Amino acid sequence: MPNPSLLILAGDGIGPEVMDEVKRIIAWFGDKRDLTFDVSEDLVGGAAYDKHGVPLADETMAKAQEVDAVLLGAVGGPKYDDLDFSVKPERGLLRLRKEMDLFANLRPAQCFDALADFSSLKKDVVAGLDIMIVRELTSGVYFGEPRGIHIEDNMRVGINTQRYTEAEIERVARAAFDLARKRSNKVCSMEKANVMESGILWRDVVTEVHQADYADVELSHMYADNGAMQLVRAPKQFDVILTDNLFGDILSDCAAMLTGSLGMLPSASLGLPMANGRPKAMYEPVHGSAPDIAGQGKANPIACILSFAMALRYSFDEGAEADRLEAAIEKVLADGARTGDLMGPEGGTPLSTKQMGDVILQALDASV
Ligand code: IPM
Ligand code: MG
Repeated sequence: MPNPSLLILAGDGIGPEVMDEVKRIIAWFGDKRDLTFDVSEDLVGGAAYDKHGVPLADETMAKAQEVDAVLLGAVGGPKYDDLDFSVKPERGLLRLRKEMDLFANLRPAQCFDALADFSSLKKDVVAGLDIMIVRELTSGVYFGEPRGIHIEDNMRVGINTQRYTEAEIERVARAAFDLARKRSNKVCSMEKANVMESGILWRDVVTEVHQADYADVELSHMYADNGAMQLVRAPKQFDVILTDNLFGDILSDCAAMLTGSLGMLPSASLGLPMANGRPKAMYEPVHGSAPDIAGQGKANPIACILSFAMALRYSFDEGAEADRLEAAIEKVLADGARTGDLMGPEGGTPLSTKQMGDVILQALDASV
């Protein structure tokens, strides 16, 4: 068997800094666990634009289609704010999602005990929180046609289209139900069926799939605005939240903040199985490129490292090694390791990005 292959697209801002720590973790698994990956690297986002004039070169897209998994850092930055929409850094990311057909975006929001005090919510509301948002990632208003800015009656009109086919709803619903079965067996589906036809279809298809094949899973439906409210009122009522592309974008930022810091949240974007049985996959932290702290060695690498843990679990069937990595992170947090984003009012000296990588590697060493 050849080594599994990884394409690293570190991107912009803090992307390369946090990815440097992931590379050390990957090397550790090769050295100490006999789990060696063939790693290649390329550019995405503003970094790709600077070199190629586009946020994702065709050759990079082709490589992404061939590897077992893509690890992405972050894209974007103020330097690129005035670029034409078609070449903005985000377009590179959206192209990867669309062309790899990564329709199921898994965004776990887990509150580590050591960080329960960092949430903007009361500790007892978030302690022990463990929810999974399954966001549809390749359709809806992000991609629907028609779209654009047109002139009508001498006036500019901005248009985007929310569009979902039954098949698109069905496949992401199945992904959510399958996941729920491995967790607490509950799915809450969120849309706006009270105002949107696409929401009515969403609710109908989710209900049909449930009745046909997943009647053992507990299913509920909620309007997405109520869902946002419930997420901050009593987030522990949820297990898996299933929702569309735009609502998922918003609800996942909200859920992320429950856990104390956006610097902690990983994600997996999964598509159909490839010839080798592994799903098409890309893993990335939920946080962005954080231009305000980029280049200073301050960023928290944990979200990106946890994204690699998700790769171990979902692409490489190495659940026990994913557990090991997650436990190492839990351990260093319990021991008080903190990057700047995790500093409480009591202060202290924050660890640098690299120092956080160091202590996680030490905890990994201690685990074998
Ligand atoms: C996310 C991000 C992206 C999105 C941006 C960077 C295009 O906010 O992954 O949540 O809107 O999907
Ligand atoms: Mg977002």
